[in-house]
Amino acid sequence: MKYLITGGSGLVGSEITKLLLENNDVVNWLTSSKKEIKNVNSFNWNIYKNQLDENCFQDVDVIIHLAGSGIADKRWTVERKKELIESRIKSTQLLFDSLKLMQNKPKTIICASAIGIYKNQNDQLLNEESEIGNDFLADLTNKWEIVTNQFELIGIRVVKIRIGIVLSKNGGYLKSVAAPAKYGFAAALGNGKMITSWIHISDLANLFLFASKNKKMQGVYNAVAPNPVTNFEMTKQIAKALNRPFFLPNIPVFILKFVFGEMSSVILMSQNVSSKKTEETGFKFEYLKVIDALKNIYK
Ligand SMILES: NC(=O)c1ccc[n+]([C@@H]2O[C@H](COP(=O)([O-])OP(=O)(O)OC[C@H]3O[C@@H](n4cnc5c(N)ncnc54)[C@H](OP(=O)(O)O)[C@@H]3O)[C@@H](O)[C@H]2O)c1
Repeated sequence: MKYLITGGSGLVGSEITKLLLENNDVVNWLTSSKKEIKNVNSFNWNIYKNQLDENCFQDVDVIIHLAGSGIADKRWTVERKKELIESRIKSTQLLFDSLKLMQNKPKTIICASAIGIYKNQNDQLLNEESEIGNDFLADLTNKWEIVTNQFELIGIRVVKIRIGIVLSKNGGYLKSVAAPAKYGFAAALGNGKMITSWIHISDLANLFLFASKNKKMQGVYNAVAPNPVTNFEMTKQIAKALNRPFFLPNIPVFILKFVFGEMSSVILMSQNVSSKKTEETGFKFEYLKVIDALKNIYK
């Protein structure tokens, strides 16, 4: 099959690209960078100038759309929030506008979304029908999903993958929030009771590929492993997998708010997200327990 990936150079995109190349699939990237990658055909776009090299679509079966400025890369100033929204909305709209009049379109688009779309509900199990939140992250994700729905109007199958906390040695949660654990300074956050709905990066990449081939899949699916854990448990298991001590007191909420500002909501959110609908598609998670995922990552 031939795939076009946007945001292919990022954490999730690199893992998906690696898997596709291992399967001998053809990979195109639509990228904002000039970097050349072995065995990947790179095409450029500039979403702010409405520029896109349309050769990128030639004979493509599936688009995997991941592009967007990093949610947790910088403090959420007014300008940054605008960039987080625009990078997702403008990129999706540019893809749509480029494809809508095209004769031979890709059949499927699999778009990243996030569990941050749900309202924080403490322990209540959240499924794909659950209420949408009213904070910045929920609003951003909801807007992104709404522009993505347009592809259905032009006969393209749309799958939206609501991604949980991605566990990977190359970036995301383990490289940022949990990084001090590596040096023996593991500490839970806030009251430690927040529920973390996590997924191993390789399960996530496999889910994107599974969705690309399973034509019955349409609409939203949660990308979280079946056994979420509390933040305390996650921190304890990270320390265990790293063979490091876990003795420090929890980091108080006011410190997290001082350091990260409004962005602290990402690490303090408590979301007990269900994987039931995703499992009902026949998708099999390789990593069901967080300790197994962590041991694999830190091996
Ligand atoms: N990682 C997680 O825990 C997580 C959780 C929930 C949702 N998600 C969502 O899933 C998607 C992929 O996540 P990720 O962790 O792989 O993200 P990432 O590492 O930050 O990569 C995103 C990629 O998007 C492209 N990009 C960044 N800013 C852009 C801009 N202004 N215009 C156009 N393209 C831009 C870049 O690719 P190029 O340089 O190739 O253009 C970048 O490598 C993101 O949209 C993210 O919000 C991730």
